[in-house]
Amino acid sequence: MKKLELIRTTRIPFITVAKAITPPIIWQMLYKFLIVRNIMRSECYKPFYSPWLEAVFVREYQTIKPYTLCPIENCWTLENMLTNATNIEGDVVEAGVFQGRTALLLKKIMSRQGGSKLLYLFDSFEGMKEVNGSDNRHLLGDFNDTSLEQVKSVVGTEKFIVYRKGWIPETFDGLEEKLFCFVHIDLDLYQSILDCCEFVYPRLSRGGVIVFDDYGYASCPGALRAITEFFSDKPENPLALQTGQALIYKL
Ligand SMILES: C[S@@+](CC[C@H](N)C(=O)[O-])C[C@H]1O[C@@H](n2cnc3c(N)ncnc32)[C@H](O)[C@@H]1O
Repeated sequence: MKKLELIRTTRIPFITVAKAITPPIIWQMLYKFLIVRNIMRSECYKPFYSPWLEAVFVREYQTIKPYTLCPIENCWTLENMLTNATNIEGDVVEAGVFQGRTALLLKKIMSRQGGSKLLYLFDSFEGMKEVNGSDNRHLLGDFNDTSLEQVKSVVGTEKFIVYRKGWIPETFDGLEEKLFCFVHIDLDLYQSILDCCEFVYPRLSRGGVIVFDDYGYASCPGALRAITEFFSDKPENPLALQTGQALIYKL
């Protein structure tokens, strides 16, 4: 009765009325059938427009899928943000490579773009070093199922790919004069992420992007802590995404 009264006394659009009086499951079917199917790229509405479901990107994702557990939505964030950074000065960084899943995607995007940017890949390539239990659910030695040679065989050895094997922050040595346009930080650990931010942020060009993989994951609470602490005195405010990632644009 209340619903009918509301509809009678206010000038609510038809669609809002229909939604209010229809059981949710029936509404979803009606909405798909009557509204979504008539709009452009209707197959990508689940329930909102989801560009990662477009055939071109699904095909691209299939090519890295044998190596990746990274969900397609997260990969789309990387694709989109790296593409946006094409015309920003500086090189591309991935810190936290493991078996090269997301690195392969970055490499493919950069190969397609052409240009003279370098792709720096940082990892111990022998798993986690020390893990502080309160920061992270991972254990010492996690992610040791990899090696530099194995990653090279997946990602490639093109001249624009620079592998930096060892521990962050030591592996940043010698890169102090560099500028970066896009940085993907997927290190899971509080101290590693903080050290990484301290090095890359001052070298990030204006308009450059950092994508954090672990920001919203309950398995890596140290990531949220490190990123929150680091940006507490910076003008940028990390944007949390529903994928668990977060991103900042350098102002
Ligand atoms: C979650 S994995 C990266 C996953 C990868 N981006 C992917 O999508 O497959 C995290 C990686 O960070 C590396 N790592 C964490 N702290 C590090 C540090 N201080 N120095 C070097 N590597 C580190 C670990 O060895 C591990 O390979």
